[in-house]
Formats: sequence, structure tokens, C-alpha cells
Amino acid sequence: MREHQAMAVTADKVLGEAGKSVQSFWCRYFTFYDTLNEAIPYREMIADNVTLSGARLGDHVLDAGTGTGNIAVEVLARGARVTGTDFVESALEMCRRKAPAGSFVFADLTKPLPFGDDSFDQVICCSVLHLLDDASQALSVSEFRRVVKPGGRVVVTVFGAGFSSLRVYRETLHRHRAQHGFFATVRLGVRHLFATLRILYYVAQIRRRERSGKHKFLTGEQLRELIAAAGLEVRSVERIFAGQCWVGVGEKTARG
Ligand SMILES: C[S@@+](CC[C@H](N)C(=O)[O-])C[C@H]1O[C@@H](n2cnc3c(N)ncnc32)[C@H](O)[C@@H]1O
Repeated sequence: MREHQAMAVTADKVLGEAGKSVQSFWCRYFTFYDTLNEAIPYREMIADNVTLSGARLGDHVLDAGTGTGNIAVEVLARGARVTGTDFVESALEMCRRKAPAGSFVFADLTKPLPFGDDSFDQVICCSVLHLLDDASQALSVSEFRRVVKPGGRVVVTVFGAGFSSLRVYRETLHRHRAQHGFFATVRLGVRHLFATLRILYYVAQIRRRERSGKHKFLTGEQLRELIAAAGLEVRSVERIFAGQCWVGVGEKTARG
């Protein structure tokens, strides 16, 4: 762990002006982000990512692009250890408060990871890689392969091509109503109306960047190819998050 901390570098030293403006976008988004924890499809996506990784008691998991640390919290709840990385310092600070048992260090996924080979039992990267371009997506997954131990799994969830936040919102209300009833769902909708509108606005900005080629949402086949091209054996590729994301599982074979 000390090695990880020593290798960690701060955002100011690494990010240029463009990177800082992206950081400020995420800082604003994070003010509202955890409202998603009330949405059944989001909670399921977090739990499924950890389940698919196969993380067990005592394992050490890398949560790449940890954001507000929801994957990290779930990993810790299952008795595994976690190192979360992100390129937004304020997110890392939030995670340190929220999950003091975890370790949180700066890492920009457009660059090699600050960890040695075979450092982790599993790697999870949830809802991050679609924010990168082609080359950085390929670099990230090959870095995940490098830092995971032989036999370990890499779980990657990305926005699917044609991602619709309205479909996620509709399914969230539908599932909440089925579980908790009509009036509880209306109360939830009213309580989180402002935060929900902000989240829809931020996702609309992400979609706009995708249309301008700065981000790349993937088809299931493209995610499969990305994982395979990094030298991982593809175990599964499935729809998740109200069918709007893809989750792919790759394994580093014992041959390495
Ligand atoms: C939608 S959030 C996902 C957070 C978390 N993994 C989850 O599933 O809730 C995307 C995260 O990716 C991070 N991110 C985006 N581009 C990145 C990059 N180049 N390097 C590291 N993290 C990045 C953002 O800071 C943000 O925390």
C-alpha cells in the first residue's frame, strides 16, 4: 500500500487546462451523483460488478474511476480490500471520508497506472471507459490486464451505443413502484426532482461529447473486442443498467 501511495501523483502536476475543465465538470456532477444510490438499476449495477469480479474475503480489488466510491464501499462490505483511483482529487477526498478502510489514489486512465504488475486480485472499472477515446480505452484495458494477477478478473461496464437516460429513469420509477407502491414512488420523484434534473443535464452533456467524438459509447461486440484485444479471455458480455450499459468480464489466464 505504501508503494501505491508513493507512486500517487496529484492532479495539478498531471492535468493540463482541458483536463482541469473536465475535472470541474465531475466536481459539479458529484454534488448530485449519489442520488443514484436510490435508483434500483444503479444499485444492481454496482452489486453485479462486484459479484462478477468474484472478489472474496481478503482479496485486493482495484476500483478504477471510483468517483464517489460506490463500488469501493460494496467491495469493502464483502470483506475484500480496495484501492480506488480517479483523476478528480475532490472525489478521492470524498471517498477517503466515505470509505476510510479503502485506499484512494490519483490516476489518470489516459496514462499507465501507477501500480506494479500483478498487484490486484480483481479490477473493476464501472461507467468510466466510454468517457475516453479509442486509444485510451485500449490502453486502460491493457493496463488492467497488466496489474491483475494471473487468474484474476477484469470487469468493465460502459455506456452502450444509443444510451438513453430516459429509459433508465422510466425503469427506475417502474421498479420502485413495483417494490414500494405508487405513493412512495411519487414521494421519491418529488424528493429528488432537482437532483434528477441535474443528473439528466450532466448525462446530456456526456452524450453531446460522445456525438462530437470526444467520448465513445460501445456496442456489446466492441466491448468484447476491447477486452480480447488486451489479451484477456472474455468470460461474458451482458446488458446491465436498464439495458443501457454493457458489462464485460475478462480473465487473465494463468499463462499470463
Ligand atoms: C460516471 S462516474 C463513475 C463512478 C463510479 N465508478 C460509479 O460507477 O459510480 C465516471 C468517473 O470516471 C472518472 N474519469 C473520467 N475520465 C477519467 C480519466 N481519464 N482518468 C481517471 N478517471 C476518469 C470521473 O472522474 C468519474 O469519477
